[in-house]
Amino acid sequence: MAGFREGAQALHAPRSVDQHIHEKENVLRKALEGVRVLDMTHVQSGPSCTQLLAWLGADVVKLEAPGGDVTRKQLRDIPNVDSLYFTMLNCNKRSITLNMKSPEGKRIFTELLPRFDILAENFGPGAIDRMGFGWDVLQEINPRLIFASIKGFGDGRYTHYKAYEVIAQAMGGSMSTTGFIDGPPMATGAQIGDSGTGIHAVAGILAALYQREHTGRGQRVTVAMQDSVLNLCRVKLRDHQRLQRGPLNEYPNNEFGDEVPRSGNASGGGQPGWAVKCAPGGPNDYVYVVVQPVGWEPIANLIGRPELVTDPEWSTPDARLNKLDKMFQLIEEWSMGLGKWQVLEILNQYNIPCGPILSTKEIIEDESLLANDMVVRVDHPERGEFTTVGCPLKLSDSPVDVRTSPLLGEHNADVYGEELGLHDQLVTLKAKGVI
Ligand code: COA
Repeated sequence: MAGFREGAQALHAPRSVDQHIHEKENVLRKALEGVRVLDMTHVQSGPSCTQLLAWLGADVVKLEAPGGDVTRKQLRDIPNVDSLYFTMLNCNKRSITLNMKSPEGKRIFTELLPRFDILAENFGPGAIDRMGFGWDVLQEINPRLIFASIKGFGDGRYTHYKAYEVIAQAMGGSMSTTGFIDGPPMATGAQIGDSGTGIHAVAGILAALYQREHTGRGQRVTVAMQDSVLNLCRVKLRDHQRLQRGPLNEYPNNEFGDEVPRSGNASGGGQPGWAVKCAPGGPNDYVYVVVQPVGWEPIANLIGRPELVTDPEWSTPDARLNKLDKMFQLIEEWSMGLGKWQVLEILNQYNIPCGPILSTKEIIEDESLLANDMVVRVDHPERGEFTTVGCPLKLSDSPVDVRTSPLLGEHNADVYGEELGLHDQLVTLKAKGVI
């Protein structure tokens, strides 16, 4: 912590050459080195946030009830071993157990809190207050504390409701706008409600840490899953307002009411796009193709319709707007004779933006993702090697070294013993169910 504060003080004062040299010698090896996070999060939204903080170099101590985060046991693939659900969201953390409902647990928590910069939680509404540690109490114990809370909803009619991933997708604008017009609302596989909210929480926490360097005060950071999904569905509210002025011509839909319809695989941006079929016709044999204005000439030539380059019915983006379905059908007639990797290569020769639909198998075996530490192999003491998704934030001075998730209570002795001097009491505390 001392190093972190010293580093930040340097922001205020003019720096001498000597100071520069001194800083270089004491350079932080990780962006958040010295920052301590008491991580009371569970399931996915919170753990995805604190895992990123750990990857950025923070010391993240995950505080779990003595029974452990419920996801340790959910969707297990190996009996009695922490699930992949848990291991893939809790890398680089340490684990302590504490019964927050016992008086001794509350006392220990009160002693721990001043040693941390950040407290993160995503309990159901009101749970942290019922434990006796509402924001007022936390601030009193540690005025520098940044208290990050993830909830399903912001203030208002839904505040007291619990939430999971797809509920946030349903209420944040994603489900009503995902899928095909003749089908039901669709959930997306990307965990925009959970991990999407976790990323938003990271941004809030880092901003609060920065502000604390100027004010000396901690603050509360609250992020709602509904709000985070809505933030990611911003363009759909753009289109909702555009509807007042007429139909959304870039959508494949024929009819429009007073709300944004599901638009299948339309790109959602200013340039039309669609997923076209490729050989041999398997479920992921598709390439997503975007037709920029400059891309039309090479595409028309490639698909064997050079006359459409100059045909006024086809030559401009505006002219093509009322026949996008026909345009992608023509492209598909060409792509169906080729494999998706061939299509990728050919279209890229002409700088045409496109992407093959990659299956999970293709992703986990993708050499570039492996080489770029986005698909990472990690050793776990009980399950052996597992594969996880690496850190998408690449900082040139703060490399990420993905390490295993902790076993339940693995660091009780380190934290309670070394830091609080409770070595002698560990056995009794365990026997009494406090840790
Ligand atoms: N010691 C003792 N008790 C503990 C504890 C600890 N260390 N940690 C948690 N608990 C208790 C809580 O105090 C709470 O008890 P109470 O309700 O009697 O006050 C209890 O565990 C349940 O907590 P809760 O978070 O409500 O769990 P849940 O399984 O009922 O609900 C969610 C799970 C995810 C629906 C809920 O936590 C939630 O809505 N969270 C906010 C949104 C979110 O993050 N959703 C999940 C995205 S992956």
